[in-house]
Amino acid sequence: MKRLKLHDIRTAYLEFFKSKGHLVLPSFSLVPKGDKSLLLIGAGMAPMKKYFTGELTPPSKRVTTCQKCIRTGDIENVGKTDRHATFFEMLGNFSFGDYFKNEAIEWAYEFLTKVLEINPKDIWVSVYFEDDEAFNIWHNKIGIPEEKIVRLGKEDNFWELEVGPSGPCSEIYIDRGEDYGCGSPDCKPGCECDRFIEVWNLVFTQFDKDENKVYNPLDHPNIDTGMGLERLATILQGTDNIFEIDAIKEIIYLITKKAGYKYTSDSKLDVSVRVITDHIRAITFMISDNIRPSNEGRGYVLRRLIRRASRHGRLLGIKGGFLSELSEFVIDSWGQDYYSDLKDNKETIMKVIKAEEEKFLETLESGMEILDSYINSMKNNNEKILSGEIAFKLYDTYGFPVDLTEEILNEKNMSIDMEAFKSNMEEQRQRAREARHDNTDSGWSNLSDEKIYENLESEFVGYEYNKSKSNIIFITKDDKEVENLSEGHRGIVVLDKTPFYGESGGQVGDTGIIYSDDFKLRVLDTKKIHNDLIIHIVDVEEGTARKTAVNAEIDAARRNNIRKNHSVTHLLHKALKEVLGDHVNQAGSEVLDKSMRFDFTHYEAIKDEDLEKIERIVNEKISESLKVKTEIKPLKEAYESGAIGLFEEKYGEKVRIVSMGDYSTELCGGTHVNNTSEIQMFKILSENGISSGVRRIEAITGPVVYDYLNNLEKTRNQSAALLKSSKEEIVNKIEHLTKSLKNYEKEINLLKLQTAKDEISKIINKVRSINSINYVTYKFNGVDLDTLRNLADLVRNKLDSVVVVFATENDGKLNFVCAVSKDLVSKGINAGKIVKGIAKIAGGGGGGRPDMATAGGKDLSKVDEALSGIENLLN
Ligand code: ALA
Repeated sequence: MKRLKLHDIRTAYLEFFKSKGHLVLPSFSLVPKGDKSLLLIGAGMAPMKKYFTGELTPPSKRVTTCQKCIRTGDIENVGKTDRHATFFEMLGNFSFGDYFKNEAIEWAYEFLTKVLEINPKDIWVSVYFEDDEAFNIWHNKIGIPEEKIVRLGKEDNFWELEVGPSGPCSEIYIDRGEDYGCGSPDCKPGCECDRFIEVWNLVFTQFDKDENKVYNPLDHPNIDTGMGLERLATILQGTDNIFEIDAIKEIIYLITKKAGYKYTSDSKLDVSVRVITDHIRAITFMISDNIRPSNEGRGYVLRRLIRRASRHGRLLGIKGGFLSELSEFVIDSWGQDYYSDLKDNKETIMKVIKAEEEKFLETLESGMEILDSYINSMKNNNEKILSGEIAFKLYDTYGFPVDLTEEILNEKNMSIDMEAFKSNMEEQRQRAREARHDNTDSGWSNLSDEKIYENLESEFVGYEYNKSKSNIIFITKDDKEVENLSEGHRGIVVLDKTPFYGESGGQVGDTGIIYSDDFKLRVLDTKKIHNDLIIHIVDVEEGTARKTAVNAEIDAARRNNIRKNHSVTHLLHKALKEVLGDHVNQAGSEVLDKSMRFDFTHYEAIKDEDLEKIERIVNEKISESLKVKTEIKPLKEAYESGAIGLFEEKYGEKVRIVSMGDYSTELCGGTHVNNTSEIQMFKILSENGISSGVRRIEAITGPVVYDYLNNLEKTRNQSAALLKSSKEEIVNKIEHLTKSLKNYEKEINLLKLQTAKDEISKIINKVRSINSINYVTYKFNGVDLDTLRNLADLVRNKLDSVVVVFATENDGKLNFVCAVSKDLVSKGINAGKIVKGIAKIAGGGGGGRPDMATAGGKDLSKVDEALSGIENLLN
């Protein structure tokens, strides 16, 4: 057996299949493209489903990859065992209607025995119990003895995902020898013990399973194979533990060095080391694939992994953030050749991790304190279940992923009321949905079912025309097809061809009118249901709509403004890249008629001077009057020409490219100006962070900038009038006013102190005592807290041994101060406790040092009662 390193095994595998006529493709992104059934890629074949089904044409009929994979189903076991992982790599060779069982089996055997030099006597296989063909190939062609071929049922030897390509399979096992086994005479592949390790799964993909669990036969049979790289490495490197693999062991070394901990000296801490070792690879690869920490979907998986790893760092005694530095090792080690994207994205990956870990550490401490206090009170009350509301608060306010809370509780044999947590979560989602709805009340509430439009098609003619002669081909009301829609009603119509742009790619839908001789419809909004269908939501203003010939006319002025705002996003995108760097990528956009916003990846607030520069460049490109051209090109060509945009793996497909002079080339389906000069002017209104690593610019163009300037001018005139100054002098005047205001404030406070001091002699006469402790209480009016503190100090100094308690009502607020002289502090009298006790009577709270403390109160009517509370407190 060859003792190969992890990265060398990968290369050997890809080289071997290359020599068998396979095209070596880079690993696909962890983010599934056009596949809603998966959150993350977890198998080599998953990103290639459409090649198996024939929906897309593969770049070659023979493909080989090493696919990065993430599976989080077993996350709670990761670290606890030597085997579980969230991140792993799957080696695979694939045939799309090309070779089948013979070659798949022969080559697998050749690779194992000839390239890796695994002893043939250690190889066992399993086949689907009915698959005589595979059995015969293994036995007759390859020469595996009958007793080493096990026939297993559907559970073991039929491979499938929720939906998609599937089929019977044959698995290859390596016999690690009796020492690893359970000793049972029946011990063979399929046995629970560690002797027979399954390394390679050869799937004979013949079906496409649909959502109804029906297995539809595929036109041609395929091959899909999968071999866990790490598992293979454990065999070649003579270990039974994935954390002993060369490159992975180095991560362990770095963590333990950082923590000053000796690995294997404490089994609990070892778990933490392994959790981090696993998660850091998942984290690094996810970010490289453009996933960002968030509270939803993949982003949440990433956030959980970062926060979980970070917390385990704390358990190991590591102070401060460390994950970003650790990811650098993963990038350098894994990024050598096959995963070169890691190197390209190095800076981004490290920055995203750093930002997220810092954010987490800020909240971790306060969150942990709170959780600890709940755990303590649960212990005291003999409770084992944390309320869902508290778990939600920890999640919502302190950013504790709920499974982290659960993990911490589980360590203490406690758990969470999950049902209640989920319902809290659902309520919040509902609130968010409602909030969204309030903002975008475009009347789509009655479009709940898109299914009835599925088989319809319409042609979009709105790139060239604002009007068209069309036919209404479909009408619905309240989600049901109808023949007519009468005056005063709202519904949806579909035209055979339409100039209305359906909301998509961030650009809002058009509005306008659709009319015939005897009816008129107001188009409130327009939506794209699928690639070839646009629907119009309409109010019938006159007559009764029916399926007939009509004129369709968009609100052209509104559309012109939308064009300006859309074209400017392209210029902005390019300018952002130019000024901030190539890591900037579009993360979303909203193109309206009055404004636009553009979301993009970047890690810190943009400096004022950079923002100005960006704005200036965009305005320059507008005044350069660049010609805007649209072309339809094959994707490959577009990609090679350097166009920016979201490239998906759609070999052979054509895409629409929008270019502006030589400056910007972007994939886009939207509507644009013909020349950048039409945009007239660009003005950025704000720049903000919207989630970690994603920023948003809001801006305006064209006539809206003109209105904006006019409004500014108006405000400026008003301000000048109010300040009784000229427009040019406004700033100076404000500075001057602010300064004098501050001086007045000081003067007023001095005066107040003076008046209060006059009261001091009165106060001093009020000293009483209880248990031979002198004390004095007094209520002031209109004195601020600072002054009150000064007064208490003054009185304390005047009277040697005393407890002073003052209250003040100021601006409708109630404050207390307690000052205790030194001798009494040493006798155990505590100002903090006293002020707390007093404030409590007035519905407030506070505290401070034993000699001086302050508190607030709520109930103004209880001031006197509160002050007399001192008697009880000193008693
Ligand atoms: N698709 C097969 C698996 O993941 C090869 O095991």
